[in-house]
Amino acid sequence: MQTFISSLGERVGSEVVLMGWVHNTRSSGSVMFIELRDGTGFVQAVVAKPSVSEEVWGKAQSLTQESSIALTGTVSKHPKKENVFELQVKEVKVYQIAEEYPIAKKEHGPDFLMDHRHLWLRSSRQWAILRIRDVVTAAIQEYLHSEKFVRTDSPVFTPNACEGTTNLFPVNYFDEGTAYLSQSGQLYLEAAIASVARCYDFGPVFRAEKSKTKRHLAEFWMMDAEAAFVEHDENLRIQEALVKHIVKRCLEQCQTEFTVLERDITKLQKIVDLPFKRLTYDEAIPELNRLGSDIKHGEDLGNDDEAMLTKDSDVPIFIEKWPREIKSFYMKVDPTNSERVFNADLIATEGAGEIIGGSQREENKELLLERIRKENLPEKEFEWYLDTRRFGAVPHSGFGIGLERMVRWMAGVEHIRECIPFPRTISRLRP
Ligand code: 4AD
Ligand code: MG
Repeated sequence: MQTFISSLGERVGSEVVLMGWVHNTRSSGSVMFIELRDGTGFVQAVVAKPSVSEEVWGKAQSLTQESSIALTGTVSKHPKKENVFELQVKEVKVYQIAEEYPIAKKEHGPDFLMDHRHLWLRSSRQWAILRIRDVVTAAIQEYLHSEKFVRTDSPVFTPNACEGTTNLFPVNYFDEGTAYLSQSGQLYLEAAIASVARCYDFGPVFRAEKSKTKRHLAEFWMMDAEAAFVEHDENLRIQEALVKHIVKRCLEQCQTEFTVLERDITKLQKIVDLPFKRLTYDEAIPELNRLGSDIKHGEDLGNDDEAMLTKDSDVPIFIEKWPREIKSFYMKVDPTNSERVFNADLIATEGAGEIIGGSQREENKELLLERIRKENLPEKEFEWYLDTRRFGAVPHSGFGIGLERMVRWMAGVEHIRECIPFPRTISRLRP
């Protein structure tokens, strides 16, 4: 039976079978070291020529990087390192001897690595990021379920835009004409709350982003959450608790991954116990000008602005109550200031930028229709959406968290293309 590297600590002294890939080999005379990886971790396997048959020694000597193998042997403690184990090999089974591996130890440029993404995923760095991504996903779902959110997935083919019409991906949709790949499932969730009260979706969304930045993908994973009877302040409270829960789980479960990535986690550790900051848009602009930005009132925050604002902050910052004109049609207008909406963007620390966009939604049908018309959106396509304001409208709020943005922040990775297994950007469709 197969044992996983991550459970070797429970098997010291026993004979086990490990299955995986050769990460590395090195020999010194009559001892050979095989670094094996099996998905759960990495282990050093020791083949001592005097203690194995000639056939086993020969097989071990033939191993190349990435060869697929099973090793049988006894688990021992590392002679010097605490909590590190080794395998004293008795048997080697070869599944395949790998051809010469194109990703060498030397430094490769990002284009070469992205062209070989299907192989690059095997590196310890990419392994660590994939695993952090999994922990983030699980933590989000765990938190939302504890707050009574029900998973309610939304469609990918949609007839209308949710987040503006400038970055839509059109597709021919049978006899129905043009469909667009979804930018966010939010509008569908707004309908579903009248059934389950609180819901979330989790899936790929699409934005034909023309910009080549380190934080934009054309296809990314979004978790949209929506809750009935939740207003602006409570919406921010839920987001803050969710983000803290994700950070907490990563700190608990990703120690090995952080070590592999050489991620300094001191900043993340502070976040768990401190309240997040809030700044209104109207406060943020003069503050940015003071810090040296030339942003004007009425403009969206750029990457540099976000980095500047959070530079000296130990905690993420909510930028709330933005001008109505630069935000989406569905956001609820502040009754005390009709030029502002009840929304917030959450800006993470360490230059990670916006990770969440959310708002309280306009529940009044007439006001909503006015906004739809003003923005020249196809009214007919929003008829069903307006029904949600005709039949039992309630105050409600929601938000969307970009999974790769969150992973990028947690992993401390500079470029978002490493935070999704197979990235899709303006210039990358393959592999
Ligand atoms: O701020 P956004 O556009 O908000 C919405 O789509 C809302 N409908 C969500 C909602 O209220 N349910 O996107 C939400 C998040 C951003 O904060 C960011 O983390 C991520 O999605 N995001 C991107 N991630 C990678 N590449 C892109 N091109 C992204 N655009 C947005
Ligand atoms: Mg946004």
